[in-house]
Amino acid sequence: MKDKMSIIPMVVFLSVTFIISVFAFLWGMKVFSPIEIRKAALPKEHPDPLREALGKATNGLNNLELVGKQHYEVYCMVCHGERGAGDGFNAFNLDPRPADLAIVRKKGDEHLFQVISKGSVSVKGSPLCPPWGATLDEDRIRSIVAYLHTLGS
Ligand code: HEC
Repeated sequence: MKDKMSIIPMVVFLSVTFIISVFAFLWGMKVFSPIEIRKAALPKEHPDPLREALGKATNGLNNLELVGKQHYEVYCMVCHGERGAGDGFNAFNLDPRPADLAIVRKKGDEHLFQVISKGSVSVKGSPLCPPWGATLDEDRIRSIVAYLHTLGS
């Protein structure tokens, strides 16, 4: 009789331990997690109109490239053209013609930086591509270089 009595707390203890383990397991599997439940309720690809509008307005350009675009349009576009193909509205006046920037940019960023800051004479070209180093600081020139990489193919 005494033996039978002492087995009851043991059974209770084991059952409680078992139930706690099952709950802990399910919690670990995030079955109860409110965050997971809320996430599951959301459609996977929910639209983000603000991001979409921004992407359209900036044409997918980042900040640096946008600053570069503004400078490019002021300082380079008359000769090199909107897409850098060397067909700006002043291009036909020039001999040699302005370079196609999609080709030149393969010479690397330091080359582009030098041409922009010291002019095409500095790379043994004609004096027709003017130096901008006295007008534009280094950051602005770097932004133009970044923008050149987004032009054409
Ligand atoms: C007044 C017209 C004019 C403007 C403005 C101008 N360029 Fe040029 N650019 C030229 C001409 C012309 C050449 C070709 C020079 C040569 O072949 O000797 C040239 C060549 C270049 C080259 C190639 C140089 C080489 O030989 O590797 C780069 C790069 C370049 N320009 C970038 C720019 C950028 C960037 C701007 C704006 C910051 C700019 N240019 C503004 C006329 C211009």
